[in-house]
Amino acid sequence: MRFPFSGPDPEDIGSNPTNNPTFAEILEARLTRRAALQGVSATAAMGLVGSLLSHATAAEGDPVSTLTFAEVKHGYDKTHHVPPGYKADIVIRWGDPLTAGGPAFDPQNQTGDKQLRQFGYNNDMIAYFPLPYGSNNSDNGILAVNHEYTNTALMFPGFKDDDEAQSKLTKEQVDVELAAHGVSLIEVRKENGTWRVVPNSPYNRAIRLSNTRIQLTGPAAGDARLKTSTDPEGRFVIGTINNCAGGWTPWGTYLTAEENFHQYFSGKAEGAAYTRYGITGKPAYPAWAKYYDRFDVTKEPNEAMKFGWIVEIDPYNPNSMPKKRTALGRFKHENASVVVAPNGQVVVYGGDDERFDYIYKFVSKGRYNPNNREANLDLLDEGTLYVAKFDANGKVVWLPLVFGTSRLTPENGFNSQADVVIEARRAADLLGATKMDRPEDVDINPVNGRVYALLTKNDRRTPDQVDAANQRHNNLWGHIIEMIPPGGSGKNADHTALVYDWKVFIRAGNPKQRSHGAKYGPGVTENGWFANPDNVEFDNQGRMWIATDGFPDFGVADGVWACDVSGKAAAQTRCFFQCPSGAELCGPRFTPDNKTLFVAVQHPGDDKDSTFDNPSTRWPDFQEGMPPRPAVVAITKIDGGIVGS
Ligand code: FEO
Ligand code: CA
Ligand code: CA
Ligand code: CA
Repeated sequence: MRFPFSGPDPEDIGSNPTNNPTFAEILEARLTRRAALQGVSATAAMGLVGSLLSHATAAEGDPVSTLTFAEVKHGYDKTHHVPPGYKADIVIRWGDPLTAGGPAFDPQNQTGDKQLRQFGYNNDMIAYFPLPYGSNNSDNGILAVNHEYTNTALMFPGFKDDDEAQSKLTKEQVDVELAAHGVSLIEVRKENGTWRVVPNSPYNRAIRLSNTRIQLTGPAAGDARLKTSTDPEGRFVIGTINNCAGGWTPWGTYLTAEENFHQYFSGKAEGAAYTRYGITGKPAYPAWAKYYDRFDVTKEPNEAMKFGWIVEIDPYNPNSMPKKRTALGRFKHENASVVVAPNGQVVVYGGDDERFDYIYKFVSKGRYNPNNREANLDLLDEGTLYVAKFDANGKVVWLPLVFGTSRLTPENGFNSQADVVIEARRAADLLGATKMDRPEDVDINPVNGRVYALLTKNDRRTPDQVDAANQRHNNLWGHIIEMIPPGGSGKNADHTALVYDWKVFIRAGNPKQRSHGAKYGPGVTENGWFANPDNVEFDNQGRMWIATDGFPDFGVADGVWACDVSGKAAAQTRCFFQCPSGAELCGPRFTPDNKTLFVAVQHPGDDKDSTFDNPSTRWPDFQEGMPPRPAVVAITKIDGGIVGS
């Protein structure tokens, strides 16, 4: 995510304070001072020799990708771009009516009550649930869409794009902001090649920070640290916050990830459960605590413990209560990608998106039952949470975060599994997990069974902190790691294993700039390189579709880049979609037939000094007086074929 103003950057605070060994230390003998001075570690340099040689630009005889679209050219302008032969239709925008009787968007007259019945702000993750349940219907389904955060100066008239804007909000405007955070469920249907929202569908639902009651389940439910004045039992919370990416389960539920929850809490409190998460009295949303005590940790200290979880929602049952699954740990969850292991145990992969934080997986105790949906609904309440340690010998080891084992004992302040999950970051610190370059999406390729971790960037890594898994200091570009579980490809991959192989799949950046140390497959073109990988999606052929967040720092709009993952054109990324000015691209998700790719254009117009009154773009409406509006877009081939073909 990018932030609404230049104030406290959530990645600046709560950063990992530990001294877990880096591979620079492990590999000290191999790390020459000269290599470090040249900007790459020795390990990286060794890898670069081969990759730089293979970086010749596309020419006759270069390997040919299975992707056939003509590349979108790198650029930066007011609107979006798709390749020739494709179209991009707007499905729903911020403020559009969502639930029955939802009012039309009136940007000059926003209220919290109206926003509760409208599509929220800053759409992020998208999941698609076919209708009816159990079908593969690719023309009618329920979209689950996250609304990650709000941009004050772009949402309301009269503000400058500065640090002061949020603190000046009225209570009504704060109510709009609260009601614009959460998740929307929307029934959509494709008719004559175009996707439309089904108005007043019983599946349409607004799950919001303002008013949706959510149950806390798993080891932390009922713990003293979750008890508040409005919830003396410590088992419920109103709402979900900063919903970034997520995932979906084979039993047809949606998982939404609470990421930068700390930035909404004012005040200071003692203890790593606050400080290790960045709750340090410098909120990005200072106005909220003025009107609501629950966002002031000096008044309601435990409210902040009710956020930072994975939330499970049943889109097929509009009356179901969402559940925060505390067994999956409390951290700044980027996502929650689910796969069933060969033995039926359910595995959930996720990243903790902060500089120098970790990659996790959860393995359920129980097994998935494909014949009994009900039997699966609470599988995520019991199991083992692990954190990843990447070794220089090409192995990744999964370390269990289990109370009473290793250093997770009363001597270190852990008295129960509740303590372990509430302070998952500190537990992982003690076990010596590998500090990564901001883990974003960690997702499973259903064809080859491999797991891909997208590391978006880390401009704080110093030369002595480079390691085998994070090979560049001042990593402005990000990279992608490929993890290879034992057992074989596809459904044979054993995601319960405690040791996998791993390797670097892509080092992003410009392959023509030697100082970037980039690595792609051979034949990548001048439009095929990218920076700052964030979300990832796989098509039915196992090809990778990467969404970016941050490429505008290099003068290029964010968008989608796609590539094969095997064969001669593996990692030869190609540009497929370009965002409008100021936006990042989120939530790429295919329909089961791969004939539609849904994408979420987040924070359009979020350029420097761009405001509601004077925005850098008025995408997607381009109407005077209408601010830019985050929107879900359906990309299809005009001939009705498979996207990417
Ligand atoms: Fe919300 Fe890590 O992106
Ligand atoms: Ca992002
Ligand atoms: Ca993200
Ligand atoms: Ca994904």
